[in-house]
Amino acid sequence: VRAAAEDDKTFTIHGDIVWSRHNHTLSWAKDGYLVVVDGVVQGVYQQIPAEYEGIRVIDHTGKLVIPGMNDIHVHAPQYSFRGMGMDLELLEWLNTHTFPEESKYADLSYADRAYDIFSDDLLHSPTTRAVVFGTMHVEPTELLMDKLEATGLKTYVGKVNMDRNSPDYLCEKDAATSLADTVRWLNDVEDKRYANTKPILTPRFTPTCSDELMEGLGKLKQERNLPLQSHLSENLSEIDWVHGLAPWSTCYGQTYEHFGQLDGEGNTVMAHCNYSTDEEIAILKKHNVFIATCPQSNMQLSSGIAPVRRYLVEGMNVGLGTDVAGGASLSMFRAVADLVGCSKLRWRLVDQNLKPLSTAEAFYIATVGGGAFFGKVGTFEEGYDADVLVLDDSGLRTTLECNPAERVERYMYLAEEGGRIVEKYVAGKRVL
Ligand code: GUN
Ligand code: FE
Repeated sequence: VRAAAEDDKTFTIHGDIVWSRHNHTLSWAKDGYLVVVDGVVQGVYQQIPAEYEGIRVIDHTGKLVIPGMNDIHVHAPQYSFRGMGMDLELLEWLNTHTFPEESKYADLSYADRAYDIFSDDLLHSPTTRAVVFGTMHVEPTELLMDKLEATGLKTYVGKVNMDRNSPDYLCEKDAATSLADTVRWLNDVEDKRYANTKPILTPRFTPTCSDELMEGLGKLKQERNLPLQSHLSENLSEIDWVHGLAPWSTCYGQTYEHFGQLDGEGNTVMAHCNYSTDEEIAILKKHNVFIATCPQSNMQLSSGIAPVRRYLVEGMNVGLGTDVAGGASLSMFRAVADLVGCSKLRWRLVDQNLKPLSTAEAFYIATVGGGAFFGKVGTFEEGYDADVLVLDDSGLRTTLECNPAERVERYMYLAEEGGRIVEKYVAGKRVL
């Protein structure tokens, strides 16, 4: 009876509930009730409304109850070396650390061990949904998808495409081989009928993908109405390189647009966009592209600072990514704090016209901003999927009397000093 009850996606959670409003501020209800019916949020109330009388009550009195975090840019096969080799910039870092490590995933037994660790740690992290890079290898990427499916987290996972400017040990033979492997992978994962895990096309970035490959992936995106993820305008040397490889292009973003890779309504994620020009921004807006801003990675690889305030003012889709292993930490709470800190440095050192982000705005980007890539995800308004974290902040001691929103702000910065995730739900299903 107990198991059946716990599987039931209709319940109310009692606790100190905090969520984002669409004006990027935080709402809260102390001793409130988050009502969920069939995995969908009905609302937050001070008392259980009569129509929900008899609903199963999950008592978390005194705990914080917040939406789950959406990490919209993370590399699963880089998890093992995070925190190492952070003394290089992007292109050297790829050649020295990243490509050698990713080549090990050709070996299924290595992938099995490494992806077990990644999946388990992601399950225990604040992340409820993620957009994930695998490697160029088909079976190992399917293994990653199997493992992520088993966690109950909702993810998009990409088999990476790379057929040029890559070392022999990590380079697809040619565009035709890369495309054939991609179709084989798509057919396989379709057959597996995952409930939580979806494929996403993943050209690594323009420098490692031939025109023929880019064109083929653009066609595949349109034919099968698939989402797509890649990297854009992350690092100055990378941008120079793209100008050299595609002298016909007016900006880096156009090298994706030209091959139809941005077509489709808001189903593309571009990581970074640290140096997007006005023209590139216009292209991203035209196609409703999601920007995955990755502040920790941009610090560690000395890449730069994204003008996130501008993207918000322009009404663009902005989500947050950890970009492991460019970023060392898988924690989206840490990413929220880094996002705020980076925006302050940018304001102080780069552009006084773009005021820093508040913690509430960064929380919005981490929840609703990236959540929109998955649908109605990231807040506790009626009709949103019930992605929920229950947090115990009693280990973060203070003499102050804080309201629930202040406690959540504090939790973001101090989570590692004694915060604890008590329970975690994805679309109303308990996963932790
Ligand atoms: N650009 C191309 N590949 C990568 C990668 O693995 N990480 C980051 N941060 N940028 C990239
Ligand atoms: Fe990345």
